[in-house]
Amino acid sequence: MFETAWSCPSNIALVKYWSKKEGELQIPANPSLSFTLSACTTSCHMHVEAKPDDGNFSLHFTFDGERKPSFIPKILTFFERIDSLVPWLKTHHVTIATSNTFPHSSGIASSASAFAAMAQCLSDIHQQMGNQVEDPLAFASELARIGSGSAARSLMGPCGVWGKHADFEGSNDRYSIAFADIHPIFQDFRDTILIVESGKKSVSSTAGHELMVGHPFAEARYQQAHRNLSKLKDILMHGHLDLFYALVEEEAMTLHAMMMTGNPSYMLFKPETIAIIERLREARKQKGLSMCFTLDAGANVHVLYPNSEHEKVLNWINDEVAQYLENQRYLCDQIGNGAKRIDI
Ligand code: DP6
Repeated sequence: MFETAWSCPSNIALVKYWSKKEGELQIPANPSLSFTLSACTTSCHMHVEAKPDDGNFSLHFTFDGERKPSFIPKILTFFERIDSLVPWLKTHHVTIATSNTFPHSSGIASSASAFAAMAQCLSDIHQQMGNQVEDPLAFASELARIGSGSAARSLMGPCGVWGKHADFEGSNDRYSIAFADIHPIFQDFRDTILIVESGKKSVSSTAGHELMVGHPFAEARYQQAHRNLSKLKDILMHGHLDLFYALVEEEAMTLHAMMMTGNPSYMLFKPETIAIIERLREARKQKGLSMCFTLDAGANVHVLYPNSEHEKVLNWINDEVAQYLENQRYLCDQIGNGAKRIDI
């Protein structure tokens, strides 16, 4: 019997992963970089016990203490895909109990933190069984990537870089590496997530990635991501806030532009998303508030800013944008350091 427990945060991409290489297992078409978060986390407790090898997986899964049959197929697909890396999965009964610190269906993607936490537990148990793993963090990140691409970046902080890029030594398509050489202004950066819509998205990220195949702007987008990553490295190292804001917003807008100009085209923006973006740019220009926005593949707006601006930004949110939010809801998060072991 083996057992372990870990918590892993979500992450927010600054340069976006959007498209996979065709015919490969979750290999990104371009490199990406994210801030690792710290408040929005998934905790995973995993327990495995030997069973006869009947060629099948045996899984007991709970979320917040309740069985969730709808999650099982996703996890079994994940197990199937990692079978060669974790060959004991079919000879053990696996019990997984997870919970999130952020509200379920708050519109926050939980797949990054969930797959990262599961991957970290699998990697830990794999080593407890006596298997040699050269680089445990890389191994966990590789497993996480196979579950959900962006999950690869959630294991480490303060930034995760996933995908090969000439300026980041050791960067590669299989797993994410940490990037920590960041200016003090970014070291306690904030991400306040404005909840515009908490329901299920009309088009999943996985379907969205597929629509980049044959997209008329795909090549230009991949080149832009490479250029932006070079610029972002310098910006993060030197603390150039204005350049940071311009680059991060360009990336968010490009992501949604790809959705709007694909075939079929679709929009995940809501009128409230646009209203918030306009208000934010106005407040930055007219009131001098130091902040910017980014978006993931949904309608919610992530407001990024230095810790010193926190009070001012919260006042702005409460006074000027709360009206656009679902139940006036927002979540406060901050840059963090990745996976943490939970004592059991
Ligand atoms: C817009 O990692 O959710 O958040 O690999 O198919 O599971 P799959 O997709 P996913 O895509 C995330 C896309 C994004 C940008 C990013 O996180 O880089």
